[in-house]
Amino acid sequence: MATAIVARNLTKAIPRSTTSATSSLRLAARPTRASLARHFFQQSSRRQYSSTHEAPKSTRRTAAIYGTVAATAALAGGAYYFATTSRQELKNTIPEAIPEVHLKKGSGAQSLGLFTPTASDYQKVYNEIAKQLWEKDDYDDGSYGPVLLRLAWHSSGTYDAETNTGGSNGATMRFAAEGMHSANGGLQNARAFLEPIKQQFPWISYGDLWTLGGVCAVQEMQGPAIPWRPGRQDKDESFCTPDGRLPDGSKTQDHIRAIFGRMGFTDQEMVALSGAHALGRGHADRSGFEGPWTFSPTVFTNDYFRLLMEEKWGWKSWEGNKQYEDASTKTLMMLPSDVALIQDPVFKGWVEKYAKDSDLFFRDFASVLVKLFELGVPFKEGSQRLEFKSTVEE
Ligand code: HEM
Repeated sequence: MATAIVARNLTKAIPRSTTSATSSLRLAARPTRASLARHFFQQSSRRQYSSTHEAPKSTRRTAAIYGTVAATAALAGGAYYFATTSRQELKNTIPEAIPEVHLKKGSGAQSLGLFTPTASDYQKVYNEIAKQLWEKDDYDDGSYGPVLLRLAWHSSGTYDAETNTGGSNGATMRFAAEGMHSANGGLQNARAFLEPIKQQFPWISYGDLWTLGGVCAVQEMQGPAIPWRPGRQDKDESFCTPDGRLPDGSKTQDHIRAIFGRMGFTDQEMVALSGAHALGRGHADRSGFEGPWTFSPTVFTNDYFRLLMEEKWGWKSWEGNKQYEDASTKTLMMLPSDVALIQDPVFKGWVEKYAKDSDLFFRDFASVLVKLFELGVPFKEGSQRLEFKSTVEE
């Protein structure tokens, strides 16, 4: 089994003491990462949250259907690898800017035991995902990072502890039977983003690639190091999970406890995981919710908790799904499931802690994300986690 050869310093968050919503915007520029923050700012300012209500790019793009079916055989590390396109997957729509996808069936050679990658092979995959993340900055708020994290979470979050089914092992979202679940709307963008990387490293399984994509997204967006290990095997369509295993944003604390309790998470872990909503946005055409949760949706921070505590949240008046908006700028949003975290006293206790202590949140988030990504994965005995070096620290 490969052992970790790369070391990485845990990203230190800068403690915040300011209180207003607008201060979150200024604080997104961390002094230690000035140039990086500038990059994110350029992207964020392009959206001009406070003054315009321009539709997201992804909304404006006309969806196109790509219908090529391909059967290819590729050589990888001296081993052969068969790949056929999933027809069902092609029913999904993808933005026209993304080239046609060839989502393959079956495990990567690594999980078939035909090729034994080392830690440095996985670091190469990480580096390629990171490179593409930085290069393809003309998407949404300037980064595919949030949608990559969501793909990793939705492939893992179908886990059911009682039956030991679902989870990131299997990567069954490749098939329409799961990919078309309403909760998975928009995730074809993340799968299409990772597809050329799968072609470049055909030995990696989709399950490993998608979760590694989530790890890379968090780290490249200045979040904590997320230790990760390989071992997921891709499965066929018969392993698709039933619809309804992922959470519904219009519901509240009982629902959150039912969904995350099914996976085996505690109240504290449920709150820590929810802090991922510092990143990304709702898209009206995907989930029926619209707008970002924070002013820096491509930088990992504890601002989600700070804004939950410090802002006043009222119902947004619009035709779409019931959601909250901030009283100060009316440009941010919270889902009913987000606001439930300050309506429930136990959840609220954790929200308060994470709002005050960014380091604590970063540590707890890293531990719980490792747990999420590993649910139901049959790792080899003695397999060790790897830590990847972020390109932003090089
Ligand atoms: C109660 C639990 C949760 C609910 C109800 C929920 C719901 C949602 C909804 C409705 C969206 C908007 C999707 C869209 O329109 O594109 C979203 C986005 C997102 N969610 Fe969650 N989520 C939950 C938990 C999580 C967790 C545990 C994570 C990760 C650890 C996560 C990460 C994200 C990210 C990164 C986005 C932004 C995606 C993008 O910008 O494309 N969410 N979530």
